[in-house]
Amino acid sequence: MNKPRDMQHQPNTAFMSDIKTLRERARKHIEQGAVTAGYGADRERMVAVLNEALATEIVCVLRYRRHHFMAQGMNADPVAAEFLVHANEEQQHADQIAGRIVQLNGEPNFSPEGLLSRSHAEYVEGTDLVDMIKEDLVAERVAIDSYREMIEYIGGKDSTTKRMLEGILAMEEEHADDLVGMLADLKK
Ligand SMILES: [Fe+2]
Ligand SMILES: [Fe+2]
Repeated sequence: MNKPRDMQHQPNTAFMSDIKTLRERARKHIEQGAVTAGYGADRERMVAVLNEALATEIVCVLRYRRHHFMAQGMNADPVAAEFLVHANEEQQHADQIAGRIVQLNGEPNFSPEGLLSRSHAEYVEGTDLVDMIKEDLVAERVAIDSYREMIEYIGGKDSTTKRMLEGILAMEEEHADDLVGMLADLKK
């Protein structure tokens, strides 16, 4: 059935601000860079939450690196190598998060002071190879749940941060899966 004539060829942009408003808003507060008037999240809260995630990633880098150097015994070599791969990937996550904090006009907190209390995950040295893997697995599971909660909190309010966290979450899930596989291999 044909639509009434005046309904045809109407661009369906009722959900968007008109061009004049968009242009005017963009000219205000240009020093805020990527943070525009339309930024939907609570910027300060987002920076605080991202700084907790940053602390978590740094603690994970340190724990995995410690485990990499301390992995000893039979079958230790492939496990030690995997710890290093994870350590480097956690470092990449830390860097991504720090970069996003700066884009949001915040400051990444790299201070060693209070690092462990800002972090969601713990720093456990572990006693042997199996114990180290288990501790890393626990930390990954903490990270998985905290990233999931952050993503949920963001909803549609900051799609760039959300997309970044979704990418990191997927990698933490891979890490957890790797660790479960390593535990199973060691039991053989
Ligand atoms: Fe990570
Ligand atoms: Fe991880």
